[in-house]
Amino acid sequence: MDEATARHWDELYRGRERYWSGRPNPHLVDVAGALPPGTALDLGCGEGGDTVWLARQGWRVTAVDVSTAALERSAAAVAAAGMAALVDFQRHDLARTFPTGVFDLVSAQFLQSPLEFPRAEVLRAAARAVAPGGRLLVVEHGAVPPWGNAAHHHTRFPTPQETLAVLDLDPDGWHVERLDVPQRQATGPDGQTGTLVDHLVLVRRR
Ligand SMILES: C[S@@+](CC[C@H](N)C(=O)[O-])C[C@H]1O[C@@H](n2cnc3c(N)ncnc32)[C@H](O)[C@@H]1O
Repeated sequence: MDEATARHWDELYRGRERYWSGRPNPHLVDVAGALPPGTALDLGCGEGGDTVWLARQGWRVTAVDVSTAALERSAAAVAAAGMAALVDFQRHDLARTFPTGVFDLVSAQFLQSPLEFPRAEVLRAAARAVAPGGRLLVVEHGAVPPWGNAAHHHTRFPTPQETLAVLDLDPDGWHVERLDVPQRQATGPDGQTGTLVDHLVLVRRR
């Protein structure tokens, strides 16, 4: 466990009563809503919006985060939803350890960090954790939100094609289901509306 990483995210979460919206990520809802429930791995579960939604749909979820504060908040949200029996919370610094087992859906939603993070290795581990016939869904920011820090507006985010290349999948063993740049309207922290650009990769293990 890298204590500096854990501290960074703990401080971020503890600095506000709620950091994210509490709602599930819309692309996860689109993708998983069309699938029969099975086992899911939520990587970087944050405050548990996706974990709660998945459990409500009947998925058995392994929810992972480096931050104790995030895991406590997620566990409270899952308990409040009456879904605790369906969720296994695990604390991992994914740069160092990864949950064991394979899953029908591995979800990495905005698993992005301003700190040093071995993104390629973690995404490859995520692909290895997909069960035969299962899927890996990676959704990342494609641009800084209009209300984001102007100093970051020059940031270049990996394209879906670049993320697919990083995964280094055997083309005979995987089917690419989606590789796209969806846009959506969203509301910022001060109530301002704007367009968000996401990068989405959805692959299925044969
Ligand atoms: C941008 S947030 C996204 C949270 C959530 N997936 C969502 O979409 O609301 C990234 C999450 O990844 C977690 N995280 C960052 N670095 C990590 C690491 N090395 N190992 C495990 N989790 C990490 C953070 O604590 C945070 O909860």
